[in-house]
Amino acid sequence: MKTIKYQDLSDYYEAQIKKGILKTGDKMPSLRQIRSEKKISMTTAQMVYSVLESKDLIVSKPKSGYIVCSPYNHKIQLPEATNPLQKAENSRPEDAAINVYDTIDQKHIVQLSLGIPATSFLPVAALNKCIKNAVNTIDYCGVQYDPIEGNSRLRQQIAKRTLHWNGSITLEDVITTSGCIPALSYCLQSITQPGDTIAVESPVYFGILQLAKHLRLKVVELSTHPQTGINLDSLEKLLKKQEIATLVIVSNFSNPLGYCMPDDKKEKLVQLMTQYNIPLIEDDIYGDLYFGEKRPANCKTFDKEGMVLLCNSISKSLAPGYRVGWILPGKYKDKVIKTKAIQQISDTAITHQAVALYLESGKYEKHLRKLRQDLYVNYVKVTKAILEYFPDETRCTQPQGGLFLWVELDKSINAFTLYKKALQKNIAIMPGIAFSLQDQYTHCIRLSYASEWNDDVEKAIKELGILIHSMSYVK
Ligand SMILES: Cc1ncc(COP(=O)(O)O)c(C=O)c1O
Repeated sequence: MKTIKYQDLSDYYEAQIKKGILKTGDKMPSLRQIRSEKKISMTTAQMVYSVLESKDLIVSKPKSGYIVCSPYNHKIQLPEATNPLQKAENSRPEDAAINVYDTIDQKHIVQLSLGIPATSFLPVAALNKCIKNAVNTIDYCGVQYDPIEGNSRLRQQIAKRTLHWNGSITLEDVITTSGCIPALSYCLQSITQPGDTIAVESPVYFGILQLAKHLRLKVVELSTHPQTGINLDSLEKLLKKQEIATLVIVSNFSNPLGYCMPDDKKEKLVQLMTQYNIPLIEDDIYGDLYFGEKRPANCKTFDKEGMVLLCNSISKSLAPGYRVGWILPGKYKDKVIKTKAIQQISDTAITHQAVALYLESGKYEKHLRKLRQDLYVNYVKVTKAILEYFPDETRCTQPQGGLFLWVELDKSINAFTLYKKALQKNIAIMPGIAFSLQDQYTHCIRLSYASEWNDDVEKAIKELGILIHSMSYVK
């Protein structure tokens, strides 16, 4: 009797999903709900969902229950590992990156470009309260400079959060900054000289290329796998043949590839950098935005000698406009403090105090759980729309967290032309050329799934698909 019931019920839900009555991203009723509504035992309810899970029709999200997922996910072909030339470059990143910031405040543009979480995903009311309380709780109402290392209550909270990746960091190991880009900038300035060469992943976040250009650093791009990150053999070959001042990587849910470097690879990477005595700048800005069971470690977790300078901020998870970031500089602390003292002296005292109060309130974890679920649902919906509207040969990454998809189109498509055509239709995307100094990724785009999903977003992806199809015709 039981067996018939669970099969009937799983067939029923399967039909609802296939007919689109239960849509991708919808939350399934909880196990308790179906147990009482359908008058079945908990074991039967669990069996129903495990059948649906085994068919990739639903996924279990920790603390959020079960969510309908795209049955097509596994059909997407991944891009292959990249293969850039291993030579030091010191030319441009394309101006495309700058142009895309121009659309930041244009509300009529559908934003598939920037990695900024939708305001509706952020705890605005709670943060407003913290801003008010900040004025009342900070010395001199926040009109004076903070100490150079930063607000000590905030540093304490940042140190405490490192327990999530098995860090054993104290307040003394933390220097605050006005965001992650300043953090990367201070680190680069502290350990490089103009003319030095740095190594990066490829494709690489354009902000790192822009910093390198600004600081007159040459850049070597490394072969990178869309799921596991840089190729360590290529890196070792490079370290043997050439002087490298530092390696900069985004180890978790990288921008743009979305890869998450496996923990054992992170450990090997730290060992390699330590062996060659070369500092590693790690940007972990997406580490808290995981879709899986738990937060991944980072390279800093395995850093015994202080070789890793870890950069991070709240820009992707809490409030990009507050400009709150930090560095765990390892043994380069004195140099980084000197650089910050020259460049900035103090962060914005009010917002740093407000974030300290927010973290002290204990609400951050709950907010992150909700944010991760919102982002996961967006990721599934955007991926499904790509499958529906883009040409069949399209390849796309399958990130396990973060904010981006890297989409590889047919080689004949010029993604920069696509970017310009899309902008004329009020759709912002990032063309692949912004992510390399070499002539590669001309047929790739980066799409962000950080904006709230709605009909306009779906229409925009459909429109992109039409543009791509029309450009394929013009071969
Ligand atoms: C990898 C990476 N690092 C840093 C930043 C910038 O961070 P912030 O706004 O905190 O300066 C971004 C923003 O897109 C990013 O993707």
